[in-house]
Amino acid sequence: MEIDKITIMGGIGKDGQPEKVEQLDLKMGDIVSIVGPTGCGKTTLINDIELFGNRNTPSQRQILLNGEPVPDDFTFDPSKHPIALISQHTNFLSDLPVGEFLTIHATVRGASNIQRVVNETIEFANQLTGEAIIKGTAMTELSGGQTRSLLIADAVIIGNSPIILLDEIENAGIHKTRALELLKNYRKIFVFVTHDPTIALLSDFRIVMKNGAMQKLIFSNDEEKRAANKLKSMDNIILHYRSLVRSGEELHAHILDEELIGIN
Ligand SMILES: Nc1ncnc2c1ncn2[C@@H]1O[C@H](COP(=O)(O)OP(=O)(O)OP(=O)(O)O)[C@@H](O)[C@H]1O
Ligand SMILES: [Mg+2]
Repeated sequence: MEIDKITIMGGIGKDGQPEKVEQLDLKMGDIVSIVGPTGCGKTTLINDIELFGNRNTPSQRQILLNGEPVPDDFTFDPSKHPIALISQHTNFLSDLPVGEFLTIHATVRGASNIQRVVNETIEFANQLTGEAIIKGTAMTELSGGQTRSLLIADAVIIGNSPIILLDEIENAGIHKTRALELLKNYRKIFVFVTHDPTIALLSDFRIVMKNGAMQKLIFSNDEEKRAANKLKSMDNIILHYRSLVRSGEELHAHILDEELIGIN
């Protein structure tokens, strides 16, 4: 099935009142963030999307695909399921080596050039991690950040899922603004649950959640995009210093001062 859009029909918040946002469309190519304080229902919202909620979850939301409800008993061929969810807590159970795991997945998905997509996936993941993932490493031995990076790369390249939901990727210590830049090269619907201002401001719009309900939508304007780019520069400085610390370097405040002046 070719997917053009998904529609979220609002349900109820934790207090049982209807959500302020009654309906919203996520269109192919959109990058959307979900923001709000801890416990406000962000994960619940993406779970509703992943499950194609049909007024049958606590929030009573309904998800439409291309404007049509998805029947309760509708099951996708697992190799064609249109949604990939990269969750907040992910651990691999498989102790297969990375290369073998990806090869199996690419085979199941019917990829035409298996070695090429496996290599492309590892290369994509390695642009997001500090320490490179090696093909022969067991999946269970990857770090949290490596695991998430590999899952994102796998969903985008091997899974080829048109809708990708990412729950708080920033906490895994991966290069998040680079992730956003790389992901923009693929035409999909990306939904980021995030506490990170750079990701939120670089999205096309953000859904603000409160007390279990979608409260409002904010479309970022030029002013916000400018702020986002400054925050991105600040992030890059922080990442640079993190890698210096990680690699055992000593830091110098006067160099940092100069870099900060460069942002203004
Ligand atoms: N609309 C709703 N109706 C009823 N319960 C809800 C609703 N939305 C969220 N909840 C409940 O509120 C709790 C917190 O929600 P959730 O885990 O989605 O929050 P979160 O925003 O992802 O938090 P965190 O930032 O800590 O990850 C969960 O137990 C969830 O079931
Ligand atoms: Mg959550």
